[in-house]
Amino acid sequence: MPVSRGYFRFGAEGLDKLLRGVLTSGTLVVIAGHPGSGKTSLASTMCYSNALEGHKCLYVSLQESKDKLFSNMRRLGLDLHGIEKKGLLHFVKFPLVADPETVLDVTQEMGDLVAKTKPKVLVLDTITPLLKAVNSNVKARAILQNFFAELPKIMNGIVVLLAEVPVTEEKIEAGDMEFVADVILVLRHKIERDLLIRDLEVRKARGAPVVLARVPFTIIEGKGINVYAPVVLEEIPTPRTVELAVSCRSLGKYLGYFQKGQIIYITYPPDARPVPVYLHFTSLAAVNNLRCLIVSYKSSPQELRGLMVKSLEDTGIKREVATELIDKHFIIKGINPVSMGSSQLGFWEIDLIKKVAPDAVIFHGVDIVANVEDPVQYRVGLLNQLLHLKNLGLLTVRMGSYGDRYYNWHALLADIVFKLRIYEEGNTLKYSLYLWKRGKLPVVLGLEELRRCHEEVAEALKKVLSIGGT
Ligand SMILES: Nc1ncnc2c1ncn2[C@@H]1O[C@H](COP(=O)(O)OP(=O)(O)O)[C@@H](O)[C@H]1O
Ligand SMILES: [Mg+2]
Repeated sequence: MPVSRGYFRFGAEGLDKLLRGVLTSGTLVVIAGHPGSGKTSLASTMCYSNALEGHKCLYVSLQESKDKLFSNMRRLGLDLHGIEKKGLLHFVKFPLVADPETVLDVTQEMGDLVAKTKPKVLVLDTITPLLKAVNSNVKARAILQNFFAELPKIMNGIVVLLAEVPVTEEKIEAGDMEFVADVILVLRHKIERDLLIRDLEVRKARGAPVVLARVPFTIIEGKGINVYAPVVLEEIPTPRTVELAVSCRSLGKYLGYFQKGQIIYITYPPDARPVPVYLHFTSLAAVNNLRCLIVSYKSSPQELRGLMVKSLEDTGIKREVATELIDKHFIIKGINPVSMGSSQLGFWEIDLIKKVAPDAVIFHGVDIVANVEDPVQYRVGLLNQLLHLKNLGLLTVRMGSYGDRYYNWHALLADIVFKLRIYEEGNTLKYSLYLWKRGKLPVVLGLEELRRCHEEVAEALKKVLSIGGT
């Protein structure tokens, strides 16, 4: 994201998006959090990304040595050595201070350093020992507060103060600096379902149109800080009218066309999950030349690909041809939904969709996610995600068994519902497909119609193959 003159960046895309235009010259930022919450990582990211833009950074540490900081940050993908060599980073380690006089010496020294090196970004990691040392000295406290309030203006840049909050303290505060700071970020981490979950709270942000005060973030080896800005759309988008041909006559008669931007929910009994559905997907993709992304919450890509190939082989299509066709139209990803925190999964998916840029996305095993997530967060997250996908103009297919308690919610969010019913009558099994499209009364297709439908989509697929149109 380009930053205009006089603006600085956080260096994490999501945060720059959320707090657009906040980091102007003269801004004092306070980042508070428990040890290990990510303060040093975020401040280093700010230092690094602004240095890449040519803004010199002065990093003052009262804690870590240069070697330790540089090697830790290197693992997050920040080449502090590189910017130092270019003269864009100046690192200074100050000894720990214990009394008010030394605190004032430190500010004096920092002032001199600023005058000498003329940085645009200054990081103090951390201000906590200074605040502690002046704690009972009202005058020294006032001087310290005033010094940091004025410093960013003198620099014509930004000052980032890190504030360490002891783990024993539940409440996260940045002491005196809260009053003079323009931006206050609070970083938190906690364990949820054995996973480390981080979030960032925007407690204060002068001049920012912040609607959401809390966003999740991750710290990942090689990638650094990743802030997940929320996908909240104020308006419900209208689906684009890109029509996709339906090859089965009885479905076509009822549905007309599939449309990009539609949300389709396909549901079935948990103990009788149908394989023919993959033939329908492949036929739809081949006939309409779609690139589809499948996100499976229960099968590995190999397993799913195997099932899909088999559903084509069953109609007499050769294995190599089937495999080539599947690989041409489908990108299959498997993810264990409990390997991520509740809100992170949705963002992971959006990121993936952005990368793959498909025409359609198929979520496989949505019942699994619904059953492991926090109910309220899940429903809100899902609603936002589906609106987002609609807005992108994607055909969204969600598949899952209807044994879960979220059937109503899944159906409510869908434009089209396919519900396969299988039941015993005497010693025979009966099949029917309950079909509903928004704006119409539902219909039911019987086994004979389903068989014919299956044959018709297979025919349509073979026709595409024979004319080599895929
Ligand atoms: N290479 C890495 N890969 C993944 N996570 C890392 C890596 N390096 C640090 N972290 C995470 O970042 C946390 C430390 O962040 P840090 O910015 O030093 O926190 P703080 O300054 O608030 O104490 C660690 O707890 C660790 O979980
Ligand atoms: Mg630190």
